[in-house]
Amino acid sequence: MTSQTVQTTPIDGQKPGTSGLRKKTAVFRAPGYLENFVQCIFDGTGGAQGKTYVVGGDGRFFNREAIQTIIRMAAGNGAARLIVGQNGILSTPAASNLIRKYKTDGGIILSASHNPGGEDGDFGVKFNAANGGPAPERVTDAIFARTLEIAEYSISDQQSGDIGTIGSYNVGDCRVEVIDPVDDYETLMQELFDFDAIRGLFAGGFRICFDAMHAVTGPYATRILETTLGAPRGSVINATPSPDFGGGHPDPNPVWASELVGIMSGDNAPDFGAASDGDGDRNMVMGKSAFVSPSDSLALLTAYAHLAPAYAGKLAGVARSMPTSRAVDLVAERLGIPCFETPTGWKFFGNLLDAGRATLCGEESAGTGSNHIREKDGLWAVLLWLNILARDGRDIVQLRADHWRSFGRNYYSRHDYEEIPTEAAEALMDALRARLGDLPGREVAGMQVSTADDFAYRDPIGDSLTERQGVRIGFADGSRFVMRLSGTGTQGATLRVYLERFVDRGGDHTQDVQAALGPVIEAAQTLAEITKHTGRRRADVVT
Ligand code: G1P
Ligand code: ZN
Repeated sequence: MTSQTVQTTPIDGQKPGTSGLRKKTAVFRAPGYLENFVQCIFDGTGGAQGKTYVVGGDGRFFNREAIQTIIRMAAGNGAARLIVGQNGILSTPAASNLIRKYKTDGGIILSASHNPGGEDGDFGVKFNAANGGPAPERVTDAIFARTLEIAEYSISDQQSGDIGTIGSYNVGDCRVEVIDPVDDYETLMQELFDFDAIRGLFAGGFRICFDAMHAVTGPYATRILETTLGAPRGSVINATPSPDFGGGHPDPNPVWASELVGIMSGDNAPDFGAASDGDGDRNMVMGKSAFVSPSDSLALLTAYAHLAPAYAGKLAGVARSMPTSRAVDLVAERLGIPCFETPTGWKFFGNLLDAGRATLCGEESAGTGSNHIREKDGLWAVLLWLNILARDGRDIVQLRADHWRSFGRNYYSRHDYEEIPTEAAEALMDALRARLGDLPGREVAGMQVSTADDFAYRDPIGDSLTERQGVRIGFADGSRFVMRLSGTGTQGATLRVYLERFVDRGGDHTQDVQAALGPVIEAAQTLAEITKHTGRRRADVVT
């Protein structure tokens, strides 16, 4: 086989963030940009010689071209075998499953998740390790270190071959297998859930609307929900992946999934609504006119997971990211299982899942998952919900109301201030951090500050310490807010303000969420001086 070694020089800013390297598509398309980073993935993980990788992405603009480059580079670096989704399509959870099932050395996933796509949108590249999960920090650090010293990359002279047709072929000595992206994932879902019960639910007239948001879950949801489980044709909307997600923002929250929200609020609304994001790892669920917050969804799924065959009597523990509401902690306590609190980002769940300490995991940012793979999984959450609803018999809104009655309600919301100048955002965080020692005991918005710290996480398995993961301010009445800067943005900084207020059993669980959080919102604004630092009076996105 012939391959060439191309001279190159380091490119600034190739530091992986919360979830891989994300940049504007135009940045990734600049000569050598993708090549440099892919070579550093190989170099930072001991080289590609003789290895097997899974390669696929969410179908966004530049997906196919990038995959063709990666195939030639893997071949040029001596990889033995590649498993590639047909047409370059693999949802992030499906890729994680393939890495585990076929025991590969890892995978390269092309996605910028819920960020808009297209020529002027975002693109991303993420390396997942042999356990199927996002590379841990020591690996992303090694990859980043290579980006600072790279001098050359290798690429095959041969073309990358036809990834549109299922089958296999060689690029030099590297075997490229093009597979159906849905098959293995569907098999896994069948092993986990009571498909007969869900079939019975649909046969009884239960209706679902699943909004694939023109993104990768379209083919997965259509096959599994409509073809296999018998949901009526048309239950999955926006089901064809498009390179720019139909011009939309493939983020499943009430703001961006407004079409679904409209359908679920209309007369004749279906019984259950759901949406997934660009690469299929996030989920949003709804009942009639009712948005179920991801934090509540995690708590409810934990409480009822025993109704699904895979989890009956098998919940070892549960984990949530620190900013996620503490609703699930209450469930874990009642079940007598541990609840772990980790920094933001799915990679922090990996060790807990591998060690069998946690079975279910979740984040407030619409991510829920389990030990079945090492990524969050949007369609999995929807299927677990359907399994629970089929076996329990109650409607999702009723189930949630009963849950609050039994556990109390954690009112919860996240306020995002987007595209703030980076210096202003950092100044705000620095100023808040500098005051942490003085805050306890202070009165603000009629509440008393009881705790103030910057979250640090000592991994109970790997023992690594991750610091500065978000400022937490707790109040005497159990309310709290958390502030951190996003690690996935591509322009300026995004300030995330996470707000939570607990109303115990017997309290009023029917308030408007923003109204219930009023004092906490005011306290966050006052203590962090958001307007002074950013010039903004209100958040850009409230979810
Ligand atoms: C965001 C979410 C986080 C999630 C990540 C990847 O990261 O907040 O929970 O794991 O996207 O989907 P952030 O932009 O906050 O760093
Ligand atoms: Zn995603």
